[in-house]
Amino acid sequence: MRVKFENVSKKFGEFEAVKDLNFEIEDGEFFVILGPSGSGKTTTLRMIAGLEKPTSGRIYIGERDVTNLAPKDRNIAMVFQNYALYPHMTVYDNMAFALKLKKRGFRRVYTKDEIDERVHKAAKMLHIEEQLEKKPAQLSGGQRQRVALGRALVRNPSVFLFDEPLSNLDAKLRAEMRVELKRIHQELKVTMVYVTHDQLEAMTLGDRIMVLNRGEIMQMDEPMAMYHNPRNLFVATFIGSPEMNILDCEIKEDMLDFGDFALNIPEELKEKLKEHIVSKVKFGIRPEDVMDSLFVENKEEQRIRVKVDVIEPLGSEIHAHLKIGEHEILARFPPVVKVRPGEEMDVVFNMKRIHLFRDGEAIL
Ligand SMILES: Nc1ncnc2c1ncn2[C@@H]1O[C@H](COP(=O)(O)OP(=O)(O)O)[C@@H](O)[C@H]1O
Ligand SMILES: [Mg+2]
Repeated sequence: MRVKFENVSKKFGEFEAVKDLNFEIEDGEFFVILGPSGSGKTTTLRMIAGLEKPTSGRIYIGERDVTNLAPKDRNIAMVFQNYALYPHMTVYDNMAFALKLKKRGFRRVYTKDEIDERVHKAAKMLHIEEQLEKKPAQLSGGQRQRVALGRALVRNPSVFLFDEPLSNLDAKLRAEMRVELKRIHQELKVTMVYVTHDQLEAMTLGDRIMVLNRGEIMQMDEPMAMYHNPRNLFVATFIGSPEMNILDCEIKEDMLDFGDFALNIPEELKEKLKEHIVSKVKFGIRPEDVMDSLFVENKEEQRIRVKVDVIEPLGSEIHAHLKIGEHEILARFPPVVKVRPGEEMDVVFNMKRIHLFRDGEAIL
């Protein structure tokens, strides 16, 4: 089901944790909310769940205005970072528990067979069929996280909410679970809202990403669009690892002036930059768009003399920390590039991929 926020703000006392959020998550979408710690991600998710009430604005799930609806009536399931499994119950019972609970209350009653079918189906999806009779203490961290996921799956919710569910796992397991989650989403095609501070998780999982900073939406876009066209300096440096290089520069008539070096402004950009002439701006270039000039075919390209400072060979690529006068930049070279610390070399910036930010907002 779709989820819609209309002018939603949330205050804790005087402090405004999220400010006037307007967005719509499409039915079946894998929607990621990305932002640094304290940016309002959890608060946003908890408002979808009904665990926090907006100070103002409306929230819709499907066609229904749920702003004043209790959590249990929203047909959502939430998976947290600190999933609490019941230690005395088996994996099976941990997963069945949510369905048995419903029996006492409100919505519908599940027969034993129905519960059994749902638990087995979820266990199969998560590859924990062999673990159903075990207790949580007998499981690895990754398996426990799968059980927590399974508990959400059995409920068949119309929206899944995830709050940094993988952050307690080690890097290898995290990568595995990312793929698993994506597969589950492809299979179920249910709306998933996923909160994380990890840009890699956001990029790899999201159909769309919403970047939050200090409770405000910085940008909402598909991952690759956001990577290539960040709307502001915040998104530019938050998305992508290693980070985009940012240098101070001044836009002059024909060139970008960096102080100890300059770049000619390509013809096709001149018109666009005209109105910004003699502004101090931030120039951005991603590490993969800094190239060894020996590998650049177009001999017309502007070469920039750099001094190689530190090299980090990663096998599939080389991270080279370079100095241009007083400026420092990072380049991601393919492994065939020969670089030695202390030596000088010429690099070329891919001018089709440069970014310029004036007062933090992208002008290019
Ligand atoms: N119950 C609360 N009472 C007071 N302040 C809160 C409460 N919950 C969150 N906040 C504040 O709101 C801001 C956003 O919190 P949160 O949504 O948890 O951020 P995130 O999940 O992005 O780290 C933080 O500054 C946090 O301290
Ligand atoms: Mg949080």
